[in-house]
Amino acid sequence: MDPRTSVRVVDGVGDVARQGAEALVSCVSGRRPEQPCRVMFSGGTTPEPMYRFLASEPTRSRIDWNSIECFLSDERPVPPEDPDSNYGLFRRSVIEPFGLMAPRTYRIRGEASDLDLSARRYEALIRSRFSVFPPDIPSFDLVYLGLGQDGHTASLFPGVEIPDDGRLVVAVWVEALHQKRVTATFRLLNAARRVMFLVAGKEKARAVKRTLAPGRGEEPTPASRVSPRDGEVIWVLDREAAANLPAAVAGAGGPERGRR
Ligand code: 6PG
Repeated sequence: MDPRTSVRVVDGVGDVARQGAEALVSCVSGRRPEQPCRVMFSGGTTPEPMYRFLASEPTRSRIDWNSIECFLSDERPVPPEDPDSNYGLFRRSVIEPFGLMAPRTYRIRGEASDLDLSARRYEALIRSRFSVFPPDIPSFDLVYLGLGQDGHTASLFPGVEIPDDGRLVVAVWVEALHQKRVTATFRLLNAARRVMFLVAGKEKARAVKRTLAPGRGEEPTPASRVSPRDGEVIWVLDREAAANLPAAVAGAGGPERGRR
C-alpha cells in the first residue's frame, strides 16, 4: 500500500466521527481569517455524526470558525432544502446551529437546470478563493471523502468516464442512479494536502477490502484512484467496515495508526 496511506480502525461510527472532527481541529489551529483552512466535506450520511460533534461543545469552541472555508466534494441534482442535498445536510447540521457565527461555506448549485454550468462556476469559485489559476491546481488543506458500496467516492462512480481535460469540477451522468451529479475530479482531489476517508458499517466492508487490499485481477475502485501526489490519505474505519481487511492493512501506517 502507498506509504502515504494510513489506516485507523476504531470501534464504532461515533469514534469515526470523533477522528474526523479532530482532524478539522488540527487543520484550523494556527490559521487566521485571511489565511483560512480550506476544507472539502463529502456528501452522503456518514459525515452527520461528525457535524454534530463539530457543532457541539467542547469541539465547537476549540475551532476558530472564522478561519475555515467550507466546500463540498459533490452534489446531487436537487435544491438545498431537499433531504438528498449534501449541502442541505451541512446547512442543517452546522450552518443553521451557528447562525451569524457560521463558517464561510460555498455550495454547488445542484438545483440549476444546467449542471455543466454549475460545475464550471464552482470550479471558477474554488480557483478564485485559492487565487490559483490554470495550469496550477488548488490544494485543499483537508478533504473528507466517503465510500459507496460499489467503491465510488464523491460522485466518481465505477464505469463513469471522467473527462481528463484539466477540469477540477464536472457534471457527470450516473447511469446507475439515472441522474446527473456535479463532482470534484480526481485531479482536484489528488492535489489535496490531506484526504480523510470516513467509513463505517458492515455494508462497506467489501468495498473497503476491494479498495485497500484488492484481490488479483480485481478492478480498482474509483476510491483507490484518490492518491494525492504530495499529500497523505488517512482511512478511518470502524471495526465493521474494516472486517474484511488483512491485519497488515488494517494496521497500516505504524502501530500508532493501527487498531485503536
Ligand atoms: C454522495 C457522496 C458519496 C458518499 C458515499 C457514502 O453524494 O453520495 O459524496 O460519495 O460519500 O456514497 O455515502 P454514505 O455516507 O451515505 O454511506
